[in-house]
Amino acid sequence: MKKYLISTSILSADFSKLGEDTQKVLKSGADMLHFDIMDNHYVENLTFGPIICKSLRNYGITAPIDIHLMIKPVDRIIPEFIKAGANIISFHPETSKHIDKTIQIIKNYGCKVGLVFNPTTSLNYLKYIINKIDRIVLMSVNPGFGGQLFIENIFDKIKDAKKIIDKSGYKIDLEIDGGININNISKISELGANIFVIGTAIFKEKNYKLIINKIKKKINLFNN
Ligand code: DX5
Ligand code: ZN
Repeated sequence: MKKYLISTSILSADFSKLGEDTQKVLKSGADMLHFDIMDNHYVENLTFGPIICKSLRNYGITAPIDIHLMIKPVDRIIPEFIKAGANIISFHPETSKHIDKTIQIIKNYGCKVGLVFNPTTSLNYLKYIINKIDRIVLMSVNPGFGGQLFIENIFDKIKDAKKIIDKSGYKIDLEIDGGININNISKISELGANIFVIGTAIFKEKNYKLIINKIKKKINLFNN
């Protein structure tokens, strides 16, 4: 299993040719697709549902699909994303009435589970469920939109989350989500993150392979 992974946020892809554009970014070196699911209730934006996941699977996308649920309530629709082809589902603890139950729903379908922390959400949520999750996702922007600036306070939060993971002894991935680019990714990886959600910094470029190679050099991915 590779140590460092790039998860491209399709929010910034060309939706008029989504299959082609996502296939191209995967062929250019991205490791998985990150789907930002927004309901215009938990966050003030509205994106897409399981049908997009299913369409990309039917198109022939075989890479892992990393679902980021920014919706409330959260439980009911989880099985639909898993049946549509999701490999990991991450949710914000504030959106679940019973966090352990939501985790169980995801795991009962054999899907991996992540918890997503907004910039000021406390990592204390991890206290009684750290042994049940596969991934911690730290938002480095406020949820709802692509193309925002990286919130630099999150550098300290990455250090704190890494300490919690190391102390737990569990194999938990640390994913950072929002505002990541060629200028901040070295520090983000040095502090302990190993999965990088990148949307704008890749999709705004004409040559995906070139920018992804530049990013990989910054996180020393070639020795991955
Ligand atoms: C924001 C989303 C992020 C964001 C990442 O709510 O969770 O995934 O779209 O995209 P960029 O790289 O454009 O910040
Ligand atoms: Zn996201």
